Amino acid sequence: MQAEPAPLPKAVILISGSGSNLQAIIDAASSGDLPLEIAAVISNVPEAYGLQRAARADISTHALDHRKFSQRELFDAELIRTIEQYQPDIVVLAGFMRILSNDFVHRYLGRLINIHPSLLPKYPGLNTHQRAIDAQDRFHGVTVHYVIPELDAGPNIVQAKVEITENDSAETLAKRVQQQEHIIYPIVLKWLSEGRLELRGDHATLDGEVLPKSGLLLDSSRVLH
Ligand code: GAR
Repeated sequence: MQAEPAPLPKAVILISGSGSNLQAIIDAASSGDLPLEIAAVISNVPEAYGLQRAARADISTHALDHRKFSQRELFDAELIRTIEQYQPDIVVLAGFMRILSNDFVHRYLGRLINIHPSLLPKYPGLNTHQRAIDAQDRFHGVTVHYVIPELDAGPNIVQAKVEITENDSAETLAKRVQQQEHIIYPIVLKWLSEGRLELRGDHATLDGEVLPKSGLLLDSSRVLH
């Protein structure tokens, strides 16, 4: 008799918008590149297009409108209740534009990751593309990091850099950054699914090795797998 294949680790993905990162994750999981079951997608914005992407891929969806909650803690408690129906191994923030309460973050510490469109610690918060242009930075980019209670501040896992050109607007820059997002997020999720990544104190490790503060840098000469 053949042994049953081990069940895949489970993720719940939180979104607020278009869900292009969600789509990249769905595509990687359905092609077999990413050994992860996407158990559910939850949006705090009921009309978020990402919910349609999830439904199209036969993934359970939930819309939890944060405007219906008088306090952040009440919304987060309902969010936890919804997530816990699925008992996920990983909670993935993919364009989830809500600040999470400390209780929420502590509950999922080490299993909660985020993608942020800047080379953190530069430009936490909003309007990152315009801020990088205004500061006349040569490079901008994206970071995947563990989430800790402080906003956009947890240990970095991977960064990808994008060169800023003279003619860039926030929109053209965002587009190139997003192309990198769609590459690096599935890679990081693969490492997490395979149990290769860990949050140890205030740094991330991959295969037991402490990662640099910036996270691993993805560039065109380096293929990560
Ligand atoms: C992405 O660019 C992501 O980096 C950003 O929101 C966008 C969501 O796009 N996240 C943040 O700014 C988090 N602070 P998507 O819905 O198409 O994946």
